[in-house]
Amino acid sequence: MVLKKVSNKMQSVSSFFVMEVMARAKTLEGLGRDIVHMEVGEPDFSTPQPIIDAGIEFLQQGDVHYTRAQGLPSLRNKISRFYRQQYSVLVSPDRIFITPGASGALTVALATLLNSGDEVLMADPGYPCNSNLVTLFGGKPKAVAVTLADKFQLSADSASRAWGATTRGVMIASPSNPTGTMVNHEQLSALVGLVSDKRGFLISDEIYHGLNYEEPAVSALELFDEAFVLNSFSKFFGMTGWRLGWLIVPDYAVSAANRLMQNLYISAPTHSQFAALAAFDEPTQRILLQRRDEFRRRRDMLYEGLAELGFVLGDKPSGAFYIYANCSAFTTDSYTFAMELLERAGVAITPGVDFGENNANQYLRFAYTTSIERIELGLQRIKDFLAGHL
Ligand SMILES: Cc1ncc(COP(=O)(O)O)c(C=O)c1O
Repeated sequence: MVLKKVSNKMQSVSSFFVMEVMARAKTLEGLGRDIVHMEVGEPDFSTPQPIIDAGIEFLQQGDVHYTRAQGLPSLRNKISRFYRQQYSVLVSPDRIFITPGASGALTVALATLLNSGDEVLMADPGYPCNSNLVTLFGGKPKAVAVTLADKFQLSADSASRAWGATTRGVMIASPSNPTGTMVNHEQLSALVGLVSDKRGFLISDEIYHGLNYEEPAVSALELFDEAFVLNSFSKFFGMTGWRLGWLIVPDYAVSAANRLMQNLYISAPTHSQFAALAAFDEPTQRILLQRRDEFRRRRDMLYEGLAELGFVLGDKPSGAFYIYANCSAFTTDSYTFAMELLERAGVAITPGVDFGENNANQYLRFAYTTSIERIELGLQRIKDFLAGHL
């Protein structure tokens, strides 16, 4: 007899409802239905050609082995230069780890920092993996309900109120998934002040930097050299499937993060690292900035369209590619609403329940990761659905 039982921790690791939406959307497409995809959290654009070319060139010489656990020195040097140019901060390449996506960076950061029972504060709504990963590494996620009035971000005040005897740190993401909202310099500075007073840690997820449309995206490293900062080649750089990101850790954590990289991953994908050497070059950046303009146009159109239909929206979200819309004018159950919208109108969106429990049944996440024409079609279908015509 074998023990047919998964770990207790797995009881509290949830799956994504958006996967259900995507699976159902695929089934409907298989049956010949046309589906407007606004559920997907990845750019619809392909990887920029200079990055693909660099990857192919590397693959063609066939020498695809592990890299050192921390990642290619040449790529870490480029990232270090990027921090100097973009944020005017000096980050030694010795503190930069190349990881399998921001997901890899999150696991290394949390495994480096957490002791059993350590509580970690995070915004609700927020990126769903954070609480699951904190649990997996023995910590206790503590969701802090944030509202439109706080721009759906943790503030020093809300974090301070939630800070308890076992709280050890805070996780933030700016721009945020699912809300697209950002923390500005002043808000981040207040949060850093709190974390320092409490002698806690700050993990700053900056994966949507570059996809900020009005205000500059502030890196936590501009304010706090001890922050754990993660970013990725997935979103702005359009490289989701290459599974590549990075983590910057303070000096005291370099050795621990290195040992974790060795044990968890050996190294990030080698061909992806070589391809990403082209990511910061001028021809690639030109393509990426054009795409950012396109995302901004889509955001403006979707925002106006949803507001006209009667969804309650805050200020225009200034980053990422999401609009988190309050649908309480139409339903008290956003999950059922999303499923019916998919079935009857052929529009796929993500219900709020994927991002936490804070009024989740009143919210829907719309991703503008599809063309202007498809967004227009999606809005028309939602209009018809709300009018009872579908
Ligand atoms: C806020 C946030 N962090 C991290 C990730 C993980 O991204 P990846 O592992 O592709 O870099 C995502 C993906 O959607 C995200 O939205």
